[in-house]
Amino acid sequence: MSIWRTKTVEEAIRTTDEPGHRLRKSLGAWDLTVFGVGVIIGTGIFVLTGRAAGTLAGPAVSLSFVVAGVVCALAALCYAEFASTVPVAGSAYTFSYASLGEVVAWLIGWDLVLEMALGAATVAVGWSGYVADLLQQTLGLSLPAWVYDESPTPTSPNLVAAGVIAVLTAVLCLGSKASSRVNAVVVALKLTVVAVVIVAGLFYVKVANYSPFVPPSGSAGASAQPADPSLWQDLGFAPGAFGVMGIFTAAALVFFAFIGFDIVATAAEETKNPQRDVPRGIFGSLAICTGLYVAVCLVITGMVRYDEISTAAPLADAFRQVGAPVVATLISAGSVAGLLTVMMILMLGQTRVLFAMGRDGLLPGWFSAVSERRGVPVRTTVTTGAVVAVVAALVPLGELAEMVNIGTLFAFVLVSVGVLVLRRRRPDLPRAFRMPGVPVLPVLSALASLALMGFLPAVTWVRLAVWMAVGLLVYLAYGYRRSHLAGRTPAGPAGARRG
Ligand code: ALA
Repeated sequence: MSIWRTKTVEEAIRTTDEPGHRLRKSLGAWDLTVFGVGVIIGTGIFVLTGRAAGTLAGPAVSLSFVVAGVVCALAALCYAEFASTVPVAGSAYTFSYASLGEVVAWLIGWDLVLEMALGAATVAVGWSGYVADLLQQTLGLSLPAWVYDESPTPTSPNLVAAGVIAVLTAVLCLGSKASSRVNAVVVALKLTVVAVVIVAGLFYVKVANYSPFVPPSGSAGASAQPADPSLWQDLGFAPGAFGVMGIFTAAALVFFAFIGFDIVATAAEETKNPQRDVPRGIFGSLAICTGLYVAVCLVITGMVRYDEISTAAPLADAFRQVGAPVVATLISAGSVAGLLTVMMILMLGQTRVLFAMGRDGLLPGWFSAVSERRGVPVRTTVTTGAVVAVVAALVPLGELAEMVNIGTLFAFVLVSVGVLVLRRRRPDLPRAFRMPGVPVLPVLSALASLALMGFLPAVTWVRLAVWMAVGLLVYLAYGYRRSHLAGRTPAGPAGARRG
């Protein structure tokens, strides 16, 4: 049997109906849009905007958001077509299994761990920093080092980060509908905070701060620490920070702010009418967030000169700098609440990918066992939560946000190629949503994601290569032989137990 074997779309859809592996279908287009906004708006806009404007792009950071938004919109078209053709849990993993072959699917599933589990841990660490800061600012309370440590060690782990992951894991175990209710409340709060930033901030905008809009290449930034050189820069294709190229380098960083619209696709199987609602959820959440991001950037860089912007808490700090500390505290509190759903949905996406891989035999069968009472894969959820909590407690993540970006962009490249392959191999399949401009747009989408990957540091590429090589070894040692397509284990609910 070849490592390129594919699972037919019909087979993928059929496996969604096996007893003991059935996810509850309870979500609609509105739930999905709220889900999307819940995971998209987070660390990217609340934190990375400052680093991107202050060290890479200046006021032109709003253009960086447009660039990242366009790359995501192209990928979103591909995701929407796939999700409307293969409405099965697992997102990019499942799509590649139906188009590019098992080994690619496995590698994508492995790669998505970077986006989702590592992403959740990254946000948890950022969240703990916000909580510590907020307690200090409002109550004058300092958390003891054994509870919260910025540079954790096994003897003084970051228990705040691990604790929030544990609580969110419990919410996820209650089922999609419960998580989506918590999400709706938090999303409303988060949107209010963003609206306050935009509306209140407008009163403090000074037009002079926009000039120069694109600071010349080599300008001094807001932070003493210069940004890491990108791969393109190392290869001699791009000068350092700022200038026109700085806009693109910043785009590769703020791309993090868009991560999550693709996770809407992982919930396809829990959607009542996925063919119609998943594309709506993807485009709806992406459009809302892009508009808000650009507005926030214009306001913040208008309030504070780019070289004086805070790289740690730019939104709150901008209001402190203009003498509005109450708004600043409100923003910090809103970010603390807002990041909760980001972590929750990243973990949700991760469990659904593991679920799909378990159902296909590429991971042990218990990964796909669904609790009959809750209709969710409880064991996988608890396992994911435990791993993310340990990573968040022990690892100072810092630059690993770039790992999350490269992992996600890599998935975009493969999904774009996958759309073309599936159109060619299975032109007959019903596609409720057909992306326009095939083959030009999918090719453009793959190239755009690849180009953006080039604006990330070379060391991030090396880490990605190492992670993927380990993944390949795991596949050859386990999945290749245990896959249900290998014919050794029955394609039924082997290993199914109550989760
Ligand atoms: N897009 C999410 C964030 O910015 C991951 O936090």
